[in-house]
This record gives sequence, C-alpha cells and structure tokens, in this order.
Amino acid sequence: MTVFSQIKSLFFGSIFLTAGFASLPFAALSLVFRGRPLAIFNKSELSAANFTFLWRLIGKPSAADEKLTKKTISQAHGVVLDLGPGTGFTVHHFDKSKTTKIFGIEPNKAFHPALQAAIDAAGLTDIYTIVGTGVEDSETLKKFGIEQGSVDTIVACKVLCSIPEPKATIAELYKILAPGGLFLVLEHVKSKGGIGGFAQGLANKVWPFLMAGCNLCRSTEAYIYEAGEWDVKDLQHPEGLSGYEFITFIQGSLIKAK
Ligand SMILES: C[S@@+](CC[C@H](N)C(=O)[O-])C[C@H]1O[C@@H](n2cnc3c(N)ncnc32)[C@H](O)[C@@H]1O
Repeated sequence: MTVFSQIKSLFFGSIFLTAGFASLPFAALSLVFRGRPLAIFNKSELSAANFTFLWRLIGKPSAADEKLTKKTISQAHGVVLDLGPGTGFTVHHFDKSKTTKIFGIEPNKAFHPALQAAIDAAGLTDIYTIVGTGVEDSETLKKFGIEQGSVDTIVACKVLCSIPEPKATIAELYKILAPGGLFLVLEHVKSKGGIGGFAQGLANKVWPFLMAGCNLCRSTEAYIYEAGEWDVKDLQHPEGLSGYEFITFIQGSLIKAK
C-alpha cells in the first residue's frame, strides 16, 4: 500500500504540476481580457491568475476526496469559520441542522460568484456569509464579530498551505476559537521523506508560483499543536496514505482546552 500510494501520488502530483505550467498562457490571457496586460509581468498577479484559472478545472474533489471532505465538514457546529472555501466545492457538506452561522473567509474575489452559487445551491444562503479577505486580516474579521473566543468551529480544508505566516496565523485562529471549540482539519502537509518527499522538495521550487502561494512542504500539524492547549488532538493520515507521498494529507479534529 505504501509503495502504491507513493506512486499514485507522484502520478497525480505530476499531472497537477504539468497543468500548472500549461495554464500559464491562459492565465496571462485572462489578465489581458480583464484589461490588465501589464499584470502579466507581476509575479504575484500572474500566480494568482494562474491558480484562479486552474482551480476551477482541477479543484473539484474526486469521489474519494468527497468522502474525506464530508467526514470533516459535516462535523461543524454552531458559529463556523470556513477558511478559504474557494469556489465552494465543499460547502454542501455543512449540516444545516447543526450550524447557526458560517463565515467563509475567501480573499480571492474572482471565486466569489461561484462560491455564492454553491452556497445558494446548498440551501445555506441565510446562514453563510462570504468575507472577502485573508484570515490573517483580524481587523476586517472583527467587523463581522469574529474575535477572541467567538467561534465554535474552524474548518481548515486545503487552505493552511496557502496562508502567509502560518505559525502566527494559526496561533491567532486558536484564540478566535471558543474554549471547547472544534478545529477541523483536512490539509496536505510536508512529506515524511522517501521518493515522495524528494519529489515534493523539488516541485516546491515552482509550486508556490503556479498555485498562488501554496506551499507543499508545510509542517501544518506542528503549527496547530503549538498554537495552544488542546483537550483532544486527533490528526492522522487518511486511510491509504503513509505520510511519504508527494502530496500527503492529515485529517482529523482538535478540541480547544476549556
Ligand atoms: C486549494 S484552495 C481550497 C478551496 C476549498 N477549501 C476546497 O477545498 O475546495 C485554497 C483556498 O484558500 C484560499 N486562501 C489563500 N490564502 C488565504 C488566506 N490568507 N486566508 C483565507 N483563505 C486563503 C484561496 O483563495 C483558495 O480559495
């Protein structure tokens, strides 16, 4: 299983990498059509445009991914912070009977129309609010009442790889969570090594540029554990993954100490 999962991950990782390069001309064209041709020469703008173009095409979860995201997101309850919901591929997994309010913190405004359509289709219109900023922007979050101890659940689904200054930002997220609150995690993380780890290190030289700052080699679990005291810490590699894959995940939940 370990060898098979590593080969499978290398295969899909190379497809994502190839797609990342192949989409660059389309990203450049999208900037031209938006009347901003000079943005092509701006590394961060081209990177953002590339990921925006690409995510719509390759971001939709596979059937296996759907099971993982459902397992994670359906546990959310009360007031929820949904970090980086993107185009809304995962919002239909929220259980309306358990959630009172959901804030989707999504800085990429190009994703907002698709995200809003997904929210509406999931019947979440009344309780789901899109907040168009990065999760590190505490001033804007405060305007929505998101401050220390105000949130029952934080959902981090394939987003902590992309936030700036993860250690500091995750520590801030810990403060936002109410005592006894739930931190739900499904994140790709740094590989433990082997061929997958080697390939990951190499790919990470270009991956953040192709994928709008997504870092393949992030030790996210360490940042979460160090953020504060937890009553429950249950993060594991999903079934079939050993942690040695090129793209490997951790999944689970943590409960903030009361
Ligand atoms: C890989 S996508 C995942 C989208 C969605 N969670 C899913 O699983 O379909 C990462 C998302 O994180 C968002 N993101 C990047 N930086 C962020 C930040 N600082 N705060 C919140 N979201 C961020 C991106 O705009 C993007 O929508």
